[in-house]
Amino acid sequence: MSKYRIAWLPGDGIGVEVMEATRIVLDALGLDADYVHGDIGWDFWCKEGDALPQRTIDLLGKVHAAMFGAITSKPVKAAEAELVPALRGKGLVYRSPIVRMRQLFDLYVCLRPCKGYAGNPLNYKEKIDLVVFRENTEDLYAGVEFAPLPKELIDTLKKLSKPFGVFADLPPDQYALSCKINTKKGSERIVRAAFEFAKLHGRKKVTIVHKANVVRATDGLFLEEAKKVAAEFPGIEWDDANIDAIGMWLLKNPFNYDVLVAPNLYGDIISDLCAQMVGGLGFGCSGNIGKKLGVFEPTHGSAPKHAGLYKANPIATILAAKMMLDWLGEKDMGARVEAATAAVIAEGKVRTYDMGGSSKTLDMGRAIADKLPKAGKR
Ligand code: NAI
Ligand code: MG
Repeated sequence: MSKYRIAWLPGDGIGVEVMEATRIVLDALGLDADYVHGDIGWDFWCKEGDALPQRTIDLLGKVHAAMFGAITSKPVKAAEAELVPALRGKGLVYRSPIVRMRQLFDLYVCLRPCKGYAGNPLNYKEKIDLVVFRENTEDLYAGVEFAPLPKELIDTLKKLSKPFGVFADLPPDQYALSCKINTKKGSERIVRAAFEFAKLHGRKKVTIVHKANVVRATDGLFLEEAKKVAAEFPGIEWDDANIDAIGMWLLKNPFNYDVLVAPNLYGDIISDLCAQMVGGLGFGCSGNIGKKLGVFEPTHGSAPKHAGLYKANPIATILAAKMMLDWLGEKDMGARVEAATAAVIAEGKVRTYDMGGSSKTLDMGRAIADKLPKAGKR
């Protein structure tokens, strides 16, 4: 029996291709693992009415970690129209498989390292090295939404909230409500994860991102919990910043920042901003991490217009595999994958189209596999 059982979830479009390239690297590395394929994505929605079938959920309950490519998703009505006829009109509602995985397995940390590798023509500035911790289960993504609002809710809000008065007399189809829900537990544990990471990796500073001066209830709670956690880590400097301001400051001087931690939506935004500074979608890797399971993925989607062409950049997925190796405790292997990736980028001979080259997805996988340093040597 192998040491690890890894769920292998390629999904749709270029997800399949970047995962194939990543397997070339993992196989060359010799990780002692069984990779177990899991069905996920658009085909399973169309044919079975579920983009994350129960058998895949069962598989995820029995593995050490998962690698996930990308999926296609579409708005509710378009999704319904693509169901096989037998499943239409049954009230099936499309739900994003990645959001469901995060909720089902309580993958509360979304970890997004954004490191600029030397020689990448897409670097915004050289030597950027930021790490974003995004809360992954609550906030505006809690899914508590109303459009239109039910009458009982309108009546209650009228009674309890003065600011609601300006909306109260609008026709109910003229507005919608999405609830931002942040818990003490959710805030505390993501901030703790960020500080523990900073401590473990010798990072100097943690920046807490919020908008507590305006969004007082939820972001106020987040900031209060964050400050309590910060006080437990006297060795690590911290500051806080408003979400709008941090966008400007990060662009102006990314070197003033190190580790950033934020509630779900703000974390989503700053992680895309930071990823773009180090090469964009072909480089943005991410880990969805809980107490028992980690699901590692590139942040990009299925890019339908490139599907089947084998031209997408697999580096984001290969770096996600590096994150998985680190999380499994295989630090030497993780470091070897990173060293090989950095070497291929620095050499500049193999470049996919987004980097200004014409190399194919699998060429990049092979080039990185060929550059893997020997075990223990890097
Ligand atoms: P996308 O990320 O799939 O692609 C946008 C564009 O970015 C592509 O057309 C391509 O030009 C570029 N790109 C993306 N990945 C690249 C790579 N590895 N190498 C080089 N260039 C790359 O976003 P889009 O087009 O908005 O969404 C396509 C589908 O993917 C949609 O159905 C969307 O819902 C879904 N999606 C899924 C995600 C996931 O599985 N986690 C995340 C984002 C979108
Ligand atoms: Mg995003």
